[in-house]
Amino acid sequence: MEIVYVTGLVLMGLALLDAVAGIFVSIRQSFARSKFQQRQAEQLRSMMDEGQHGPSKESVGSWKGFRRFNIVNKVLEAEDICSFYLGPVDGEPIRSFEPGQHIGFRFTVPGDSKPTIRSYSLSSGVLEDNLYRVTIKKVPAPPETDFPPGKGSSYFHEELEIGSVIEVSAPNGKFYLDREDDRPAVLIAGGIGITPLLSMLETICKEGIERTCYLFHAVRSHRDHAFAERLNELMQVRDHLHLHTYFSHPEDGHELPEGSKTGFLSVDAIQETVGHLEAQFYICGPPPMMQALVPSMEAAGIPSRDIKMEAFGPASIKKKKPPEDSGAATESDSATVIRFSKTEVKWDGESSILEMAEENSVEIDSSCRSGSCGTCQVKVLSGKVKYEDEPGFDPDEGSCLTCVGIPDGDVELDV
Ligand SMILES: Cc1cc2nc3c(=O)[nH]c(=O)nc-3n(C[C@H](O)[C@H](O)[C@H](O)COP(=O)(O)OP(=O)(O)OC[C@H]3O[C@@H](n4cnc5c(N)ncnc54)[C@H](O)[C@@H]3O)c2cc1C
Ligand code: FES
Repeated sequence: MEIVYVTGLVLMGLALLDAVAGIFVSIRQSFARSKFQQRQAEQLRSMMDEGQHGPSKESVGSWKGFRRFNIVNKVLEAEDICSFYLGPVDGEPIRSFEPGQHIGFRFTVPGDSKPTIRSYSLSSGVLEDNLYRVTIKKVPAPPETDFPPGKGSSYFHEELEIGSVIEVSAPNGKFYLDREDDRPAVLIAGGIGITPLLSMLETICKEGIERTCYLFHAVRSHRDHAFAERLNELMQVRDHLHLHTYFSHPEDGHELPEGSKTGFLSVDAIQETVGHLEAQFYICGPPPMMQALVPSMEAAGIPSRDIKMEAFGPASIKKKKPPEDSGAATESDSATVIRFSKTEVKWDGESSILEMAEENSVEIDSSCRSGSCGTCQVKVLSGKVKYEDEPGFDPDEGSCLTCVGIPDGDVELDV
């Protein structure tokens, strides 16, 4: 009897302790939340005091260069495709972003003496809980070679765990959803190129944007079919969203999702489905896919201005130019001189400044080599640099992006 009585008392004591602990945790959480909201309000107030017109949405929580972030969650989305959720170490607000933009990462791979820089698109919709999400595919070595697997993507998959810290640059890029245009949006993703397009779709759904959307998602097989469930959910709740999935190498014995097709995605298939060309086209994927699709889209009559694209990797794909802008070398081009700090070279009338530097053993860091990440940015000491296509990354005042920049007359660079 006594034992029962004592056990009862102990159990009641434990339940009481548990309840007190629960109350304590929820007080702490709501205190942290209100401190965060207070900091956000203070930051907004101080920015409004500083400027006459108040802060723009983009300036709240923004930063220059790199800021330290924690990995707060890591989620496997498909084989070798992982999402990383990132929160700022300082706990201060972070900048919102346009759906489709990317962030830059700086990290040093064990054994390397120099940091590596890589860009990854934000894969979530509008900013929530002061977190960014990126989704990264681990890049294997090319088959039948001795090359190592992808350096940056392997580092994320193998070295970064919940609690790891990594340096991040603020959201950037000009590949994002145009909210002013209400024509149908045709989103075309190749493999992991789904990330910025998913961000656009999430935003369209979250903000209730009434715009017809077609998503064409080309994947190899179910192994790299990331976000299959989420995309399906989005299509179920919004009847103006249409999903078309193409499996180029489906595996035997694996049932394909209802309505999906096998084979490669083609412009004919897109046109057949969409039925008209009065639309905005957003295309993102590996360079070979862009190389195959973009020129055929233009040949099918889609105006270049309606094709927005981002290549995940060194992009050599160029959109059609009007003849007067064709960039053909002129006599004056061949006399153009590029001056680096220790050497000067004659421009060949074609190569980017980065390519000219590399050919002449002048070292400039680079990463995307397509004007998206800012790694190759250098100061222009005199002269001008121009771009055939407007780069996705905005260089600092007085600087240029050497990977896509060409000299506009003699130019002197701080390299
Ligand atoms: C704006 C932008 C957004 C992006 N968003 C995403 C995204 O959301 N998700 C995503 O997964 N990726 C994204 N990328 C691609 C990403 O930035 C990286 O390019 C990708 O992860 C590969 O980088 P890596 O360091 O892993 O591979 P790298 O080290 O750059 O290697 C690439 C390939 O080259 C091979 N290789 C290595 N050494 C050699 C050699 N000496 N010669 C020839 N080949 C070699 C490697 O085996 C590998 O196959 C984006 C790129 C850009 C520009
Ligand atoms: S290397 Fe990325 S912008 Fe030039």
